[in-house]
Amino acid sequence: MPGMHIDILTLFPEMFNSVFEATIIGRARTAGHVEIEVHNIRDYAPGKHRVTDDTPYGGGGGMIMKPEPIFLAVEGILGVEIPATGYRSLLAHGYPPIILLTPQGRLLKQTIARQLSTEARLLLICGRYEGVDERVRQFLVTDEISIGDYVLSGGEIAAMVLVDVLTRLLPGVLGDPQATEKDSHTSGLLEHPHYTRPAEYRGAGIPEILLSGHHARQEEWRQQQSLARTLARRPDLLQEAPLSEADRAYLAQLEENNDIPSPFA
Ligand code: 6GU
Repeated sequence: MPGMHIDILTLFPEMFNSVFEATIIGRARTAGHVEIEVHNIRDYAPGKHRVTDDTPYGGGGGMIMKPEPIFLAVEGILGVEIPATGYRSLLAHGYPPIILLTPQGRLLKQTIARQLSTEARLLLICGRYEGVDERVRQFLVTDEISIGDYVLSGGEIAAMVLVDVLTRLLPGVLGDPQATEKDSHTSGLLEHPHYTRPAEYRGAGIPEILLSGHHARQEEWRQQQSLARTLARRPDLLQEAPLSEADRAYLAQLEENNDIPSPFA
């Protein structure tokens, strides 16, 4: 099975080098699970000076990314002419989703990542400056994603986050297909605490249950730790998490006994 193909359009292609060469993403590329091409939008800007931004109509300050270099980049990379009615109609003909990274997009969640990870190809556009000309949104972009409620100086780091999240979900990348199932946000719960050797470090031990040979009780401990942590730190996640009757009973018991661990302590 060929890997996922990801095209990234940016004014700062050099930002991606180290992140995409290191660890999991680097290995996944070498193994062919994912193919990433970073394109400089400036290479598609017409004219001797290859201008990619301009001042906003109506004032307001800041610089706006011009539509023309972005449209030409997409046409060049995909080898297709954008219909006057917009790119969206091409989705039905097998052309890839075009995702704009912007703080105005839908908030990236593990569920969104799982859906996107089934696409054969994605094209990501990194916005910069005060934004991109609205016609890019209207006629080119098919999806908009934000990675959180804060403002980055550009979409590049958000694109790296998205590529990282997607890559580890691709078949073969993590070896064990179940490796992502226990992740925080996949199970709907935060992960339990982890310990490794030594059993005592600077006077601090580890929970005794982990030294016992009781695998079933250790599994129960992990699940209860996950539940307690999620209740303490991210109670909002419990609304959506798939909980068993035993899970609900344990949470009720924690609340009844006022046994909710204080977050981040
Ligand atoms: Cl995708 N872009 C920018 N500029 N800021 C962000 C973001 C994206 N997601 C959160 N903040």
